[in-house]
Amino acid sequence: MTMKFIIKAALAVAVFAMGVHQFAQAADPTPVKLQGLRGGTPLNQDNLPEGSRQERDGAPKDRDFVQQPPLVPHTTAGYQITKNFNKCMDCHAWQKTKESGATKVSVTHFRTREGVEVDNIAPRRYFCTQCHVPQTDAKPLVENTFQRARGLQ
Ligand code: HEC
Ligand code: HEC
Repeated sequence: MTMKFIIKAALAVAVFAMGVHQFAQAADPTPVKLQGLRGGTPLNQDNLPEGSRQERDGAPKDRDFVQQPPLVPHTTAGYQITKNFNKCMDCHAWQKTKESGATKVSVTHFRTREGVEVDNIAPRRYFCTQCHVPQTDAKPLVENTFQRARGLQ
């Protein structure tokens, strides 16, 4: 027997043993209780839709951490953001804020990802609702223990 053969044989035995071990685990009869966001509802059934509504317009909300994109304190129903038109900028563009009373988009929104300062909203900041989300009265799906950053408490 060559050394090479011995090593190969030992490897084969090890791989076989691992296979048997895995098989034994897969055959473990204790069922795993899966709990998804849809609760215990079986996959072939649907939960009844729970109506939720966007909160009414209010004052800007306190932030939970310093770098947080501020939450949208007003409804955004029907506010379209397309290639040619951005409803949010109708009020939040620097030119529009005097009339609309909205907060100006911050200067960080005029910097491209390469760090170049531009004179209009940067492409990576164009789709506002990627980061700024309106609030609804929906019940939280899971318990949440998040606490506001210490510096903002
Ligand atoms: C019709 C005008 C109007 C439009 C359109 C509009 N907003 Fe506003 N928004 C406001 C006003 C006014 C405020 C400030 C309310 C205040 O200060 O009391 C505001 C506040 C905000 C704030 C909070 C700023 C802060 O400092 O906390 C965010 C974020 C925001 N809007 C995002 C958006 C996004 C995203 C859109 C598009 C989906 C949008 N807004 C469209 C008028 C508008
Ligand atoms: C990639 C995430 C992102 C996108 C997209 C984005 N924002 Fe922001 N926005 C932020 C963050 C983070 C802040 C807070 C830090 C800062 O001012 O840069 C902010 C701050 C703001 C503020 C508050 C400024 C202030 O002086 O307090 C307004 C208003 C705002 N954004 C509006 C908009 C609008 C309107 C759009 C779309 C044209 C938009 N944002 C797109 C992340 C984003």
